[in-house]
Formats: sequence, structure tokens, C-alpha cells
Amino acid sequence: MHVLVTGGAGYIGSHTCLALLEAGHAVTVLDNLCNSSTVALQRVQEIASKSLRFVQGDVRKPHDLALAFEAGIDAVIHFAALKAVSESCEEPLRYFDNNIAGTICLMQAMQGHGVHQLVFSSSATVYGQPDVVPVDETAPLRVSNPYGRSKLVMEDLIGDWCNAKPDVGAVLLRYFNPVGAHPSGRIGEDPRGTPNNLMPYVAQVAIGRRERLQVFGNDYPTPDGTGIRDYLHVVDLAEAHVKALDFASDASGCHILNLGTGRGTSVLELVHAFEQATGQPIPLDIVARRAGDVAEYWADPAKANACLGWHATRTIHDMCADTWRWQSLNPQGYAP
Ligand code: NAD
Ligand code: WQD
Repeated sequence: MHVLVTGGAGYIGSHTCLALLEAGHAVTVLDNLCNSSTVALQRVQEIASKSLRFVQGDVRKPHDLALAFEAGIDAVIHFAALKAVSESCEEPLRYFDNNIAGTICLMQAMQGHGVHQLVFSSSATVYGQPDVVPVDETAPLRVSNPYGRSKLVMEDLIGDWCNAKPDVGAVLLRYFNPVGAHPSGRIGEDPRGTPNNLMPYVAQVAIGRRERLQVFGNDYPTPDGTGIRDYLHVVDLAEAHVKALDFASDASGCHILNLGTGRGTSVLELVHAFEQATGQPIPLDIVARRAGDVAEYWADPAKANACLGWHATRTIHDMCADTWRWQSLNPQGYAP
């Protein structure tokens, strides 16, 4: 298949492009590079010893989409989005325009080019504070910030499109907490500015770019008092996209799947796993809870296991070791 990957230069997109090339697919990336670098794509091609096609452009621009679709696209994986929760609270309209308007333009271009298979990056953020764990796909949806709102609206829009057009098949993937890097250490997560997320922050403390980790609260009702999440290795996640693409090719309608390991890990457990994997101490301070954080959640991935024949296989130790290999080989990320 020839797959259009929007946002393919980004963290999850670059790992997925590599998995697609390795699985024998042709790849066109459409990315405006607002949060990524072409170095990631150069390295993907070097690791795979295969080339991909890159169109620098914006999913909101019909001209850029037309260029991307020119190559004869069979299916789309749609990663392109802004993703910082706190920024979305300050600039909701920018998030709605980029994420929601971008997805509408993409669906219009797909329809115009007769492309009917879509795999979409959603997020466990749509569940907000869950009533029970593990969280399955029937759990109530409770978004609490504009980023989460944009994901929920995009899910609904894609669902409506599928309802109206029986030949459209879409898979909406709700990721839990993607972390880690390719085991080569050549591609990984390269956040701009101060990392919002735990794993890249820990890695930047270990490499000496940040002094100490702040642990946001140790008074949650969890065994060690710190927040619990379902961390998922980005290579497992990338492999799930390849399987979701195969699933979408044979399916019509809209299918929603959780992607996680089904296991929860606390902040302190992750820090200790990182220290073990790297031999590096992580100095830390316990500080107040971060507004909007939930105490604990992890996925019930049974539906994805059954529909895709996919299971996350990589451990927290793998996630930490691979993050550290990426961070130590690339102390400043993709910057020279
Ligand atoms: P990322 O920022 O590394 O990748 C997103 C890519 O999209 C970037 O390369 C960016 O330049 C590009 N992009 C953004 N807006 C664009 C536009 N209008 N036109 C073209 N390109 C555009 O983020 P990521 O972590 O790889 O996330 C990928 C997707 O997964 C996003 O949709 C995100 O919301 C979703 N997601 C991420 C996480 C996570 O923790 N990383 C969790 C759940 C869901
Ligand atoms: C994990 C745990 C923090 C940083 C976010 C988004 C979500 C999704 C994934 C896109 C929590 C604690 C963190 C730090 C800490 N993204 N922590 N010190 O909040 O589960 O999810 O990323 O869809 O929408 O909200 O991930 O990595 O930020 O936090 O103590 O410096 O680490 O309190 O318990 P989160 P995270």
C-alpha cells in the first residue's frame, strides 16, 4: 500500500514510518515541521535502507494536500496535531483550527481522491478521570481541556463520515502514554522547550539538561502515593499502526481501540526503572500535584489485542533503556 502519513516527521509518526517501510509499504509524509525536524525522516530512511516521499505542507491547505495525494495514496494515518495540554488551555482556538479544521480538510481531500481508509491518533485523554480501571472503550468520555476536546470532536467527525459513507473504514486509536525510542538510538522524542511529560523530563535530568525532576504529588491514593499511568513503548505503538492499517483495509465503519500495555506504573517506579536501566541517579523533589492530573489509569487493551492481533511486548525496562540510548547519543535531540 502507499500510505500518506500526516505528521510523519514527529515522534510517533517517525517510528511508524519506519515500521511501515519495514513492512513493505510505500510512504508519503505530509508535515509542516511545526514540532519536528527532517533529520528524523533522514534517519528513518537510513535505518530502513529505503526511501520515502516528503511533502512539507499543512493539512489545512488544500494545495499541500493535493501535492501529497498526487502520488496515488491508498490509505492515511493521521498524526498531525498540536498536543500540549497546557498550551491548549491558553490558545484553544489555535488547537481547534489546527486539529479539527485540519482533520476536516484531510477528510475532504481523501473523499476527493477516493481514499477510504483512515487510521487516526486519538488519546486516552478523552476518558479524563475514569470511574474504574482498567479503562475499556465503553468508559464515559470526560474531556477536561481544549486539546482533549479537539480529539473528541475529531473522533465524532470521523464517526459521522463513516456513518454517511459505507465504503469508509476508520480506526481510532486511543493511546495511553507513549514513551521510549527506537532501539538504534537514532530516532526518539525531541520536545521543544521544557518537556511536559515525565519520561523526556527524566531523560533530560539524566543527561544534565535539567537539574532535578519535580514529582507532582505523593499523596494520591496509590501504593506509593504517586500517579500511575500505562506507559507504552513507541515501537509497540508503531507496530499497532501497521496492523490497524491492515484492519482498516478490510473493514468499513468506525472502530475505536485502546492502545496500552494493560499495566500501570507509578512515577517513582518509572524513575527507579530508569535509574536501573541507566545506572544514573535521578535527583528529585516532591512538589504539589499538577492541576488536572488524575491519580491513576491504565488501559484494557483486550479489544485491540483481539481486532489487531497485537500485544505490547516491551517492558518498562526496555522503555527506559531505549530512551536513555536515544538521549545519550543525541543530548540535544535532533539539533546539531
Ligand atoms: P509530535 O508533535 O511529535 O508530532 C506531530 C507532528 O504533526 C509534528 O511533526 C508536527 O510538525 C506535525 N503537524 C502539526 N500540525 C500540523 C499541520 N497542521 N499540518 C501538518 N503537520 C502538522 O507529536 P506525537 O507525540 O508524535 O503525536 C502524534 C499524534 O498522537 C498527535 O495527534 C497527538 O495528539 C497524538 N497523541 C500523542 C500522545 C503522546 O503522548 N505523544 C498521546 C496520545 C495521542
Ligand atoms: C505522567 C505522570 C504526572 C511530569 C499527557 C497528556 C495526555 C497524553 C499523554 C496526548 C503524571 C507525573 C509528569 C513531571 C511528574 N498526551 N509527572 N513530573 O499527564 O498522563 O498525559 O501525555 O494525548 O493527553 O495529558 O503524562 O507524562 O505528563 O505525566 O511527576 O515533570 O508523571 O503528574 O502522574 P499524562 P505525563
